[in-house]
Amino acid sequence: GHHVSSQRIRFQRRNRPCRYDIDRFTPGFLSIFESLVPSQEEIAKQKQLLTTLSRIISMEWPKSKLYLYGSCANSFGFSNSDIDLCLSIDDKEMSKVDIILKLAEILQAGNLKNIQPLTRARVPIVKLMDPETGLSCDICINNLLAVVNTKLLRDYAQIDRRLRQLAFIVKHWAKSRRVNETYQGTLSSYAYVIMCIHLLQLRRILPCLQEMEATYVVTVDENNCAYFDQVEKLNNYGAHSRDTVSRLLWAFFHYWAYEHDYTRDVISIRTGRIISKERKDWTRRVGNDRHLICIEDPFEVSHDLGRVVDKFTIKILREEFERAANILQFDPNPSVTLFEPY
Ligand code: CTP
Ligand code: MG
Repeated sequence: GHHVSSQRIRFQRRNRPCRYDIDRFTPGFLSIFESLVPSQEEIAKQKQLLTTLSRIISMEWPKSKLYLYGSCANSFGFSNSDIDLCLSIDDKEMSKVDIILKLAEILQAGNLKNIQPLTRARVPIVKLMDPETGLSCDICINNLLAVVNTKLLRDYAQIDRRLRQLAFIVKHWAKSRRVNETYQGTLSSYAYVIMCIHLLQLRRILPCLQEMEATYVVTVDENNCAYFDQVEKLNNYGAHSRDTVSRLLWAFFHYWAYEHDYTRDVISIRTGRIISKERKDWTRRVGNDRHLICIEDPFEVSHDLGRVVDKFTIKILREEFERAANILQFDPNPSVTLFEPY
């Protein structure tokens, strides 16, 4: 019946060769990439904001340290994105909520605008706007794992320029198609970047930094974070591969549409391989974690970045992957059609 024939179609598509003229679209994709990259002025403004805020905060808490993390520091940020900051502070007396409230007061006195302490959010933050640069940002407290995974992503991006090209286009696709909304049950930008790194590891365009001799070692909340971070020594690593961004995009969507085994597989950039759900004990729903698409966090290895996905949104995601794969295979104008708003 219907089931058998749809299985057969999926099997045929598994072995589908990439269209012969895929590289015709590379200039189009590269100009989209260029249009999304933030300017030097914008990056300078972000640094300026970090300096301003660090100065204000250190007057009250001299031993604290303020870090940029997320898209403005991992090199996968688009222009005009909000800034994520993390305040590292060692104060045994105060709870996170107390720190947030105190921080809001300090910022108020420091002439920053639109200050909102959000103490009841899952991750408590202070939101604010800096009138001098016009930038808005969120400050969270002691989320050092995010600072470390930001560095890992930035280090991977320095090894081969195709990672940034691919991830920018994938993020742009995900935002256009509305499948980059974790509170709606689709994937975070962080998860999409990890999916891109994994693909490039399988194609030997990127190494697996966590399997190499560790040159950077930190322990954050009992998680041992160690990897080879002298990435300037690796900038020839992917030179054997002539894959263009269009071919990689095709491979990315083809993989998630037709090749990934959603019932058995977990992608893991920590190991540079596909590992089994069985081995992680991710074969069934535990609490709210359904494990319908499994993406292992590189440091918090018990954390499945796909855990936000439910039985409705997994269908939406897979349909979007198939749509994108088919556009890249057949559409006369993929660098337009791919991003048509949902
Ligand atoms: N993060 C995390 N674990 C998650 C999601 C996010 O540790 N499950 C951290 C990562 O350090 C990530 C940062 O939070 O870099 C911001 O996440 P996200 O908003 O998904 O990514 P951005 O790179 O900021 O993307 P966008 O451009 O969409 O803002
Ligand atoms: Mg962000």
